[in-house]
Parts: sequence; C-alpha cells; structure tokens
Amino acid sequence: MIDKEQFKKHGHQLIDWMADYIENVDQYPVKSQVEPGDIKSQLPDQAPNQAERFSEVWSDFQKIILPGVTHWQNPNFHAYFPANNSYPSILAEMIMTTMGAQCMIWETSPAAAELEEQVLGWLALEMAIPSNWSGVIQDTASTATLAAILTAREKASDFNINKQGFDTAHKFRVYCSTETHSSIDKAVRIAGLGSDNLVKVPVDDKLAMDTSALHTIIKKDMTNGYLPICVVSALGTTGTVAIDDVKTITAICKEHHIWHHIDAAYAGTALLLPEYHHWIEGIEDADSFVFNPHKWMFTNFDCTAYYVKDKEALIRTFEILPEYLKTGSRGVVNDYRDWGVPLGRRFRALKLWFVIRGFGVKGLRNKLRHHIALADWFHEQISDNADFEVVTPKVINMVVFRYAPTGIAESELDRLNEALVKQLNATGKIFISHTKVKGRYAIRMPIGQTNVEQHHIASSWDLICRTAMELSSS
Ligand SMILES: Cc1ncc(COP(=O)(O)O)c(C=O)c1O
Repeated sequence: MIDKEQFKKHGHQLIDWMADYIENVDQYPVKSQVEPGDIKSQLPDQAPNQAERFSEVWSDFQKIILPGVTHWQNPNFHAYFPANNSYPSILAEMIMTTMGAQCMIWETSPAAAELEEQVLGWLALEMAIPSNWSGVIQDTASTATLAAILTAREKASDFNINKQGFDTAHKFRVYCSTETHSSIDKAVRIAGLGSDNLVKVPVDDKLAMDTSALHTIIKKDMTNGYLPICVVSALGTTGTVAIDDVKTITAICKEHHIWHHIDAAYAGTALLLPEYHHWIEGIEDADSFVFNPHKWMFTNFDCTAYYVKDKEALIRTFEILPEYLKTGSRGVVNDYRDWGVPLGRRFRALKLWFVIRGFGVKGLRNKLRHHIALADWFHEQISDNADFEVVTPKVINMVVFRYAPTGIAESELDRLNEALVKQLNATGKIFISHTKVKGRYAIRMPIGQTNVEQHHIASSWDLICRTAMELSSS
C-alpha cells in the first residue's frame, strides 16, 4: 500500500516524468510497433496476492506497457482525428481524480453542476449556438447522438415507447448521409428502430448530403406510411470533413416536424472562429448539436458538449427517480443524471474550465487558426507536386490526398497508397490513416495536434515524398 509520504514522493516523480513525456513525446514511435499478443504475453495469468512496491509497478509500466501505447499527443500524429490534451486539461484531470467526486446530481457536487451549466453557456456564446439552448456534458459524441435519437423517438411517440415498448404501428425512420459516422447506425440499433429504418441519403460532389434527395426520400417515405423522426446532419464527416447544408436540412425538418440533430463531433470546434458561423445559419430551428472538445479543443478524452433546444423533452426521455435520489432542490437546479444514459458522472466541466481559462478564447482561436494555416501549407505542397493530388476540397485543417504519379491504373493507385500508409506508419515517425472517396483509397491528414508546428509538417511532407518515391522504384 502507498502511504501519504510515498504518494508525495512518487507523485512528484510522476509529474517530472509527465512534463518530460510531453516535451519529448515526438521521440517515441507515434504508432505502437508491437505485434498482437506482445503485451499480454508479458503479463502474469493471475493478479498478485500481495501488495507490490510502486517502483516495481512503475518499472513494468515503462518496460511492458509503454511500448504498447500509441502516442496520440505526438505532434506527428495525424491519424483518425486528434484526441488532444494540454497542460491545463491534465492539471484539471489530476484534481478531478484526486477528489473523485461523482457528480450525478446537483447535491453530490453543486460546483460540478453549476460550472457545467456556465462553461457550456460560455462556449455556446462564442460558437453562435442559440442562447435558449441548454448544454450538458456527455462522455462521447456517440452517447449524445443516442440521446438525440431516443428523445426524437419519445417525442414522436408522445413518450409512449419508453412506457409501452414498440408496437407494429410505429414505422419510424431516421436519415443521415452515406458519409456520416457509424455512431448513427449504432444509435439507431440501440434505440430499437432497426438498421433498415436508417436511410442513407446520397451525397453531392463535395460529399455533403444531397438535400433535394433527402427531401424526396422523406416525402416518399411519408406517402408509404413511415414517420420520419430524425435527420442527423454532419458538420464535418469523419472521412473528409464534408460539411452538410445545415440551413436547408433544418428547413426540411421544420416543414415535416422532424428532429434535426447536428453531428459536429470534430469540426464543431471551428465554430469558435466567427468566420465559420455561417455553417450553422438557421440553427435556431434545429433541435440538437454535438461537438467534442476531446478532439480538437485541447481537452483530454473524454469530454463531449451536447446542446439541445427542448431540454424538457430530453429530461422526460431519461428521467427515472428512485427514492434515494429524491432531493429538496429538484426543479431548482440541473440534475444532469436525467440528461443522458449514465447515472454516475465525472467532473468533466473542471477541465473545460481550466482549458478555456488557461488558453483564453483568444488563445484557443490562435491555435485553431495556426493549425488551419499549417494545413493550408501542406495542401499547397500537395497541389504543387505533379505526383500527388488533392482528393477532396480542403476543409479547415483536413487535407485528403493521394500519391498519383502519371501512367498508373486506378486499381494500382489504391494498392500503392495503401502500401504508402503502411510503410509510413511503420517508420514510427508519423501516424496517418485512410478513407475511401467514391470507392478509391485516399490518405487523410488532419493537422490538429496541440503542439504541432511547421517543422513537423515539413519533415512529414519530406518523409511522405521520400517513401512514395522508394515505393515507386521498388
Ligand atoms: C463525425 C463524427 N461523429 C461521431 C464520432 C464519434 O465520436 P465519439 O468517439 O466521441 O463517440 C466521430 C469520431 O471520430 C466522428 O468523426
């Protein structure tokens, strides 16, 4: 067992290690280079019976665990989307963990509930989210989207499915584009609506939802006896950060009384920049919006901001009141356990507060604009090089490209680019991932790691060019 003195001693050592780790994280291979089973084979089959010394655990962490970690905070991490952190966020996590407060209702930590309300209000104000909408922190965008679809379902059934379950009279439909994230498919399944009732609407040339196709499909479904209950638009698709036309989709939803949920998991952070506010023109007639500060807002995983216009409908969908949770302050304060799936809640608002105050809105904006400028530079290199091509228009800090030297067949280009990604990731100097655009293999490069700088992008570009050349000549 660790006592107070040991806690202090090891705690100080760990802080030193953490600071060095952050400073030197680009010295580690970005993507873990272990093989399947490598880590498990080094761990004993049984839990230790006797307490072990911290020094032993720490030594095994460095020897066994660390090589099996992918370093998401490495500035050369460009896979998926970033899940970035920052000093203020880490410090807040340390406090949260130390206090270990479980913030399910206002009474179990009034500061957590009131800070949550306030910081989400701050963000809404900066991001042009309507001031009459209410915010709540969820663990992930997947959970927030589930909350939106469940609320849409309950509203459409006059809150009867929660009570009586489904009957054959319910022929509900949900809509999203062919490019939206798989969390929509998952939410539709969990909500009991059935995957067959998730309609994937085709996309236009920019991979944004074809809104006239959406309208046609909705009207046809209504003629055939279906009840459209929710459209999920993507403000930044996962593959290429394509931006759906929120204004037109909102108008269609308003006309047919359909819940419009906006999934801005990644790109939503860009709304901190006023020059992107036009993306959500007309949002006041939509119903809900989600974005992940745990992706591009320097707030470590997990922290999702979910905003909803009709908070009463959300609460009515989730509220269950066992005797032991009845309090005198009900109705006067926000008991966030009623605003989503889990009962227990972490004090996530603390890290948002630390991050927003630690950077200042100006500091956050500067970082975002810096990342966008780095992506502009990278985009320029791709555009200017005859052997590479930009695959989809650049949106914020995402560049989608491929290696495409002349005279090579399309199918061979797919194979070449797949090999390029594999080879690059095996160097440990960069981690990138791919998508398919209209069936063809494309490389994604979001540039949003907290500490990424010009020299990182320049050496990545150099590495990409050299590796591509080697592959071509092999
Ligand atoms: C557009 C979009 N929506 C939802 C998600 C899911 O996010 P989370 O991991 O917070 O559930 C992602 C993840 O990358 C995403 O890109």
